[in-house]
Amino acid sequence: MSENILFLNNKEMAELGAANMHAVIHDVERTYELMQQGDVINPGKCVLRWGKTVEDENTYGRINAMPGYIGGEYDMAGIKWIGSGPQNYKKGLPRASVTVILNDPDTKLPICVADGTQVSAMRTGASGGVAMRLLAKENAEAITMCGAGAQARTQLQAAVSVRPSLKTVYVYDIRPESTAKYIEEMKALYPQLSFVPIDTAEEGVRKSDIVDCVTLASEPIIMGKWLRPGTLLMNMSDFEADYECIRRSAKICVDNWEAIKHRMISTAALMWRDGLITDDDIHASLGQILLSEKCGRENDEEIIYFNAVGSGIMDIAVVTRCYRQALRTGKGTVVPYWV
Ligand SMILES: NC(=O)c1ccc[n+]([C@@H]2O[C@H](COP(=O)([O-])OP(=O)(O)OC[C@H]3O[C@@H](n4cnc5c(N)ncnc54)[C@H](O)[C@@H]3O)[C@@H](O)[C@H]2O)c1
Repeated sequence: MSENILFLNNKEMAELGAANMHAVIHDVERTYELMQQGDVINPGKCVLRWGKTVEDENTYGRINAMPGYIGGEYDMAGIKWIGSGPQNYKKGLPRASVTVILNDPDTKLPICVADGTQVSAMRTGASGGVAMRLLAKENAEAITMCGAGAQARTQLQAAVSVRPSLKTVYVYDIRPESTAKYIEEMKALYPQLSFVPIDTAEEGVRKSDIVDCVTLASEPIIMGKWLRPGTLLMNMSDFEADYECIRRSAKICVDNWEAIKHRMISTAALMWRDGLITDDDIHASLGQILLSEKCGRENDEEIIYFNAVGSGIMDIAVVTRCYRQALRTGKGTVVPYWV
């Protein structure tokens, strides 16, 4: 008996299509559809948290385990194991580091160990991209990016792909040096866009059609009173928006409401905890909109709040596509597991 595992490093994963935003958006859309159709097994995240509070977590870090199975054309099980070291930037290391293990859904044996760090950023960008495609104004011209880290890069990549009408990007980060570095890099990639560094989120939010929050903020940096009609507000992380943002929203849309409540760190989750909204106030999941069970944006006036917590099966979908491409092209290192 011998069993092998295919090991795929970050460079190989990029060559296999982990960085192909168009393909990742497709994987993420299919994941949302399969979730809605019940063709997944998606247990909650297990959070290994240092400290006792969200503030502690954003200082000392966490490692999340996100196991799952995705059906359809993917038919694959696995787990995403993602470390978050908020202080890593001081050592020149990325905050997030991701390992994905794929398991054969029949034998349950591990068949692939892949670096999933880029996949994680790409699929979160893609998830934002799907939300923007379904929920942002058709002719959106201005976006405010809050947080100028790893996720902000793929959020913009996805935004440009689904809303080519974009002209201006306001960039707000608590660390001005991160804003400057982001703008320098993004300008080189998207010379058609004009980038404006801002000292307060308000400066951008008041002029934007899309407000995309990918920060480590654990108290609101976006105030509802700043939102102009037609804005799509994307709460991709924790408690980044005040309750007024949701009060002013015509629709609350989510990726996975049960998982959002389980995680209990975003604005919508906290309002639900405080009894200020109920399950019935959630307009739709992206899966419901993709399958035309619910509508997305209906006019250019409504403010829409979107909240995503993410799930490991998105990463498993993307890594499965790359793994199958590796088998076709002979990429990666075969590691004997049972010899
Ligand atoms: N929803 C999802 O599916 C999903 C997936 C992955 C990551 N995330 C979340 O996205 C967030 C960003 O991840 P990342 O990998 O880009 O992290 P990162 O550390 O690379 O970047 C975060 C940036 O936010 C800035 N920031 C921190 N606090 C801020 C504040 N109060 N106001 C403005 N800027 C602030 C930091 O200076 C940094 O530049 C994290 O909270 C992460 O948990 C969400």
